[in-house]
Amino acid sequence: MSKDDTGMSGSDDSHMPPAGSAGSNGNKGHDMGYEQGYAQRSRFIHGEMVSPHWDYSHHVVPPMSASATYRLDSGQRGAQGFCQFGTTEAVEQEILIYDRLQEPTSSMLEDRLAEAERAAVGISFATGMAAISAAITSLVTTGQHVIAHKCLYGCTTSLLKNWYPRIGINVSFIDTDNPDELRAAIRPETRVVYLETPVNPTLEIIDLRRMSDVLDEVNAKRPPEERIYSICDNTFATPLCQRPREHGVDVVVHSLTKGIGGFGTDMGGIVLCPLELEPMYKLYRKDFGGSLSPKAAWPPLVYGLPTLPVRMRQMQYNAQKVAEYLSDHPLVAKVRYPGLADNPDHAVARRQMTNFDGAFMPGSLLYFTLKEEPGSNDNAEAMINWTADNSYVITLAVSLGQVKTLIENPSSMTHSALDPEMQAEGGVEPGGIRLSCGLEETNDIIRDLEAALMYVASRKREKV
Ligand SMILES: Cc1ncc(COP(=O)(O)O)c(C=O)c1O
Repeated sequence: MSKDDTGMSGSDDSHMPPAGSAGSNGNKGHDMGYEQGYAQRSRFIHGEMVSPHWDYSHHVVPPMSASATYRLDSGQRGAQGFCQFGTTEAVEQEILIYDRLQEPTSSMLEDRLAEAERAAVGISFATGMAAISAAITSLVTTGQHVIAHKCLYGCTTSLLKNWYPRIGINVSFIDTDNPDELRAAIRPETRVVYLETPVNPTLEIIDLRRMSDVLDEVNAKRPPEERIYSICDNTFATPLCQRPREHGVDVVVHSLTKGIGGFGTDMGGIVLCPLELEPMYKLYRKDFGGSLSPKAAWPPLVYGLPTLPVRMRQMQYNAQKVAEYLSDHPLVAKVRYPGLADNPDHAVARRQMTNFDGAFMPGSLLYFTLKEEPGSNDNAEAMINWTADNSYVITLAVSLGQVKTLIENPSSMTHSALDPEMQAEGGVEPGGIRLSCGLEETNDIIRDLEAALMYVASRKREKV
């Protein structure tokens, strides 16, 4: 027997397992004891893939699956798996083939979120943008038309404005909250109406029921293949604060990177839809890629979703108190938070943004502007920069819905893909500030905002 440290030469048959005791990965060869005579090197690779220790029904925490590909019992079973994939036929036991198609950990997350969003199915993706691009692109083709709200997350606008025209898909940006404008924008070739509510970053609320009524009216006169689907990005609210499908929306998308993930450790996205759309979204994911890895699906499944209600309770409490504090501050020009009674969209928000028990849930984000000299955003810039340098509990960073309070300037950061005209049209002011409230002690967030505003006031005095 020849051996070296690497095990690269010769065979090692000195550690033969006793007959019948060797592990099995399910292959027949293993069951029949064929492993005898194989080198230790090969047995390291092939041994014990099925274990009597497995019984996940008794796990308190679900497992994180880690198998990019799956053993197929026969060629026929492999073929059957491929046939079954992407159909709506009920199957007794799905045949797992390859992680890009479907895998167990993200499937558990998809099921939980589908239930939360009152959707038949969920299809997870590697990022929110992968989910958004899949949600829209699957439903339109060259020559067709998308209606989008005039203000959306910057990369969604960029997708619609910069990429769709290249493949002959036309996009109209309108105020989807205005039923007359919506009706007027609909063309025979329109297939999708896309929006967010609350709108990122302006916190404007779109009346989903009113919008759905317009689409129902139009769809009633169309054949099914010309149906206009509505898609709503529910990232800001999370299903805890709002479930768009309860207000007539067809498809819901989320960035799981935000409030649902909650801790800012992983990226992810999901599409939640009726059963009829599942095959297309799954085939899209299979062919374009962008599947959520089980390692990224596990944290939102195990940490994010279970803690969402308790996290949101504190984040929302903080947002309400901060919104009230800012509203009363002499340097603040405007505060948009749906929980403020004098917010222009407060009544719609009260009806639309509720938790599973019907309680009002205005969420954890707010948008505000400071009083400025005409044409200037000096004060906002000073406040952001002071905060980045000096604040203990407020971090200058994009993203939202995390345990830490995050501040940013959408005009120059998350929404910089919108040209100045689109920003103006969408209500994204150069000096607008977006604040995502975290879990800190309320008074600590207010204390750091107060200090930042005092700094802005001191600059003003110096100038005089
Ligand atoms: C409302 C909204 N939708 C979608 C996205 C995109 O999500 P992701 O960064 O996970 O691709 C973001 C990201 O900031 C967002 O704010």
